[in-house]
Amino acid sequence: MTTLTILGIESSCDDTAAAVVRHTPGSAPVILSSIVAGQTALHAGFGGVVPEIAARAHAEKLDHCIEQALSEAGTALGDCDGVAVTAGPGLIGGVMSGVMCAKGICAGSGLPLIGVNHLAGHALTPRLTDMVAFPYLMLLVSGGHCQFLLVHGADRFTRLGGTIDDAPGEAFDKTAKLLALPQPGGPAVERTAATGDAARFAFPRPLLDRAGMDLSFSGLKTALLRERDRVMTPEGLRETDRADLCAGFQAAVRDVLVAKSARALDAYLTLKPAAPVFAVAGGVAANGAIRGGLQALCGERGVRFLAPPLDLCTDNAAMIAWVGVERFRLGLFDDMTLSARPRWPLDDAAPAMLGSGKKGAKA
Ligand code: KG4
Ligand code: ZN
Repeated sequence: MTTLTILGIESSCDDTAAAVVRHTPGSAPVILSSIVAGQTALHAGFGGVVPEIAARAHAEKLDHCIEQALSEAGTALGDCDGVAVTAGPGLIGGVMSGVMCAKGICAGSGLPLIGVNHLAGHALTPRLTDMVAFPYLMLLVSGGHCQFLLVHGADRFTRLGGTIDDAPGEAFDKTAKLLALPQPGGPAVERTAATGDAARFAFPRPLLDRAGMDLSFSGLKTALLRERDRVMTPEGLRETDRADLCAGFQAAVRDVLVAKSARALDAYLTLKPAAPVFAVAGGVAANGAIRGGLQALCGERGVRFLAPPLDLCTDNAAMIAWVGVERFRLGLFDDMTLSARPRWPLDDAAPAMLGSGKKGAKA
């Protein structure tokens, strides 16, 4: 097996990203460059990502990002062995922009094309950062995703469960909105919760009474709205009430994620991995209370807990290039018939999840 250098392209949501990753078997993968151009300002006035605006911005920015990624990596297209591109799941216009761009590059250069599932990008990141061996357990918790995955191989995943409505990041963002806190809601709610009393409001722990590893967060948001209205004064929400509401909400999300993770760990440990690993990815993994709860659980079970650095937890193209490396080594290539798949579950055998995240379809 030889050294591979792969160009990765990501445009499934509101980040236009390009990266170059190099891997020599037996040594750690190297991220030669990773460019992420966000679109927050473009969507700020709309209260969410506008798919049409996102798609146009991707189409405008992709070639600049790719040029910059190649130049920062000190590589020319001719030094690359393949082009990996997110082909779904996500917002169809954005995914199409990326896929068309990658096809153009491959048609012009003769490089092989590799279509990548965005969720596989998140799920295989622990191998890019820490060369973790299969099988490991993965929890994706972001504004668009929430699922437990058994990662058996670069192309083999079992979904143990996931959210049946909102993703946790979405719930944090909606909570922030209800409490007049800024977006993105997660960091604002966490900051406000720091001085709050988590025990004051009795928020529900949805689906804990039901077997399995599915989760639900929309009821929690409704409960929060009810309590907010109960304590609201004519002058607005008191600072202490806001802090207690944030602390109570965050504790409920943490408890649900920890309890369901305990069940997922039970399922995972029956596989008897030699060195068990539980990895998290997604923006919500940045939350100190949630991270702490998951870390403590892993400590009790003798499982290594892994949270990749935040810039590799959130959307980026290095993870897509890395899946490109893994698929290249398995001989899994695509051709010009590759098309965008707005819904594309990692585990085809698992039943479809409901709902659609704020940043596009949930897989
Ligand atoms: O992974 P990400 O950057 O984007 C996708 O959703 O794909 O995740 C963003 C989400 C947002 O909903 C944001 O509110 C949430 O992650 N988030 C947090 C924290 N930081 C970001 N949620 C809770 N606590 C945080 N500290
Ligand atoms: Zn993502």
